[in-house]
Amino acid sequence: MKYTELGLVNTRKMFQDAIAGKYAIPAFNIYNMETLMAVLSAARTTHSPVILGISESALKYMGFDMLTGMILGANITQNMQICLHLDHGSSFEICRQAIQNGFSSVMIDASKLPLDNNIQLTKQVVDYAHEYNVCVESELGTLSGIEDETTHGTDSCYTNPSDVERFVKQTGTDSLAIAIGTSHGAFKRTSATQELRFDILSEIAERMPNLPLVLHGASSIPADLVNTINEYGGNLSGALGIPTAQIRRATQMNICKVNVDSDLRLAFTAAVRKNLTENPGNFNPRDFLSAARTSMTDICINEIRNVMGSENKL
Ligand code: G3H
Ligand code: 13P
Ligand code: ZN
Repeated sequence: MKYTELGLVNTRKMFQDAIAGKYAIPAFNIYNMETLMAVLSAARTTHSPVILGISESALKYMGFDMLTGMILGANITQNMQICLHLDHGSSFEICRQAIQNGFSSVMIDASKLPLDNNIQLTKQVVDYAHEYNVCVESELGTLSGIEDETTHGTDSCYTNPSDVERFVKQTGTDSLAIAIGTSHGAFKRTSATQELRFDILSEIAERMPNLPLVLHGASSIPADLVNTINEYGGNLSGALGIPTAQIRRATQMNICKVNVDSDLRLAFTAAVRKNLTENPGNFNPRDFLSAARTSMTDICINEIRNVMGSENKL
């Protein structure tokens, strides 16, 4: 199925507009009907473009057919700009399958490979994807967290700015994820004062002013959500994210896609824990799932409005 049949767009124009306008498009990870509806509701409310991020594990959870069915059912109209994006694709084959199943953008994450192998695999995906007018994101440098299979890691292998030009030229990648100190998950750092490496970001942006850059692991891990989870029986003590001021600063410097997953997971979990605890006699999942959906929508609207700067950018 071609992505245009689902009402989707690729990221080309989104990113050109974002670089010129100094804002970022949010990529929210989705994995079920509630997350999909929350993100689309926020996009409609704020009249803004959004990217739906689908990880390989989310694909294993839903399957391509269920995902495509949900996207069809979501009635994405021409006055929206929605991109369906494979997040952290690990092989040519998964990227090929995503493209054949209606994705308008894929990430090939070969960042763990030596540079020459990363270039080779990324180029193979780019050559294939471009035949279908699908955009490709790739990565240089390694974030801590899921990419090195630790959950509390704080070490990052930062992107080397001097590799970027050659990588982009030889692969033809449409956008590039860089490592400047963010990491995946809810335990990103040990101190709230730690700064992202804006020096590296600014050097990359200076060398390649038209290259759309991507920030993974950019959840802010709102303290009120963590506190609610802890208050209602969870244990996420020590969870700490990236201050929103730092994300906003990055969006002024060619970061035009910002990935957010953990913040929605926190919103979902906090709402479900609170709702179930406060309504011990309730066993109707629609009640607590509605609370979760509303809470995730609020988080998405807040990110779009106050962090990405992408409201009213259709
Ligand atoms: O960057 C990765 C996302 O947070 C996806 O995580 O593989 O558990 O869906 P997941
Ligand atoms: P967070 O864990 O910070 O939400 O990052 C998500 C991400 O980078 C998905 O690719
Ligand atoms: Zn990521």
